[in-house]
Amino acid sequence: MRVMLVAGARPNFMKVAPLVPALERAGHEIVLVHTGQHYDAQMSGSFFQDLGLPAPQHSLGAGSGTHAVQTARVMQAFEPVLLDERPDWVVVPGDVNSTLGCALVTVKLKGDLGARLAHLEAGLRSHDWRMPEEVNRVLTDRCSDLLLTPSTDAAANLHAEGLTSDRIAFVGNLMIDSLFAHLPRARGLGLLAESGLSRGRYVAATLHRPSNVDHGPALRVFLEALGRIAEHLPVVLPLHPRTRASVTRWGLDPLLAPLRVCEPLGYTEMLSLTDGAAAVLTDSGGLQEETSALGIPCVTLREQTERPVTIQHGTNRLVPWPPTVDGICATLGRALAAGRDPRPCRIEGWDGRAAARVVAALESASESVVEPHETLSRTRNECVPAAHYHNRDDVRQSIAAD
Ligand code: UD1
Repeated sequence: MRVMLVAGARPNFMKVAPLVPALERAGHEIVLVHTGQHYDAQMSGSFFQDLGLPAPQHSLGAGSGTHAVQTARVMQAFEPVLLDERPDWVVVPGDVNSTLGCALVTVKLKGDLGARLAHLEAGLRSHDWRMPEEVNRVLTDRCSDLLLTPSTDAAANLHAEGLTSDRIAFVGNLMIDSLFAHLPRARGLGLLAESGLSRGRYVAATLHRPSNVDHGPALRVFLEALGRIAEHLPVVLPLHPRTRASVTRWGLDPLLAPLRVCEPLGYTEMLSLTDGAAAVLTDSGGLQEETSALGIPCVTLREQTERPVTIQHGTNRLVPWPPTVDGICATLGRALAAGRDPRPCRIEGWDGRAAARVVAALESASESVVEPHETLSRTRNECVPAAHYHNRDDVRQSIAAD
């Protein structure tokens, strides 16, 4: 098989990295494409180094922009690459704009090229249609020939949208493959000693969702909560460029003073910071997963999560919504009281062997011919019309009624 792996933004790199050696071992040809949605050394370059990713054959240089501009640039740059490379499979990860851009190009060229689309992390749903990531997830799943799910609950979300089992393969979580592969190196980094931090005696925080950071009043609540926590435990906050810009725009710089703010960290450094923390406060999807694998209590600064398995696992907690300083601090208090879970991760498929299952799923799907439009279940599809998808209760009711 000739497999095109697409990566574009920070959370993609650790999902694609384990596939490179797994595909090579199985004798398949790889074409690595970097869309360039993220381009800084801290947001992209250092991840290639840390994860041992080879230099991409194609760098599309899409860069930053509005959703429309960014997605369109990815599409424009990806189309000639796909026409030229003619892979058997295009594999796209997650929910970022460049994922959707490449998915749309692939599905529209399918008639001419025959290249099929596989989506890593298929079937995750926040049921919040206001999130750009939710739009990207739903549409990418709809375009895909092969839906590779990271957790066993994801298939039900896909079925509810009319996507049928013959296109779904449960493979587990590639992010955890990367975590297990790089944890020993992260533990040997000496980052905590260098930073004057003691293992289990600080809180690590990240914040970058547009809904949390783009509006001053919401951002203020989160930063004030972190400030209150910092009265008891050091709070380390690697600051995402979006958040940095918003703090300045809203004049909130004084709220950073009690925190240990640093630049975004590379993959191994962030893993080291997470692994040593007493607890993590975050709005990132990846950190909810990594803390679950490590047994570290996580407080998720979101109204809902598309990763409910992390809540059921017991390591992750959502803050009360709308968020308040008291609510965030009380949730963190409960997380700290629960402490680190020393048992191995109990979520099915989060075992460090997802890449081998992805390769097996691609090989097996290569033997069958599946036409996306023919495999949509009409009955299900009529039950969940796109126009109703903005409200999760609507979706639940229509599924229940079905
Ligand atoms: C994107 C993803 C989000 C993911 C996040 C991880 C979408 C819709 N969102 O959000 O799901 O969790 O990446 O970071 O795709 N910037 C830099 N250097 C970079 C990249 C970005 O300075 O290398 C700055 C730019 O000012 C840019 C801003 O960060 O405008 C936001 O970047 P963008 O790619 O638009 O979205 P993220 O907020 O990073």
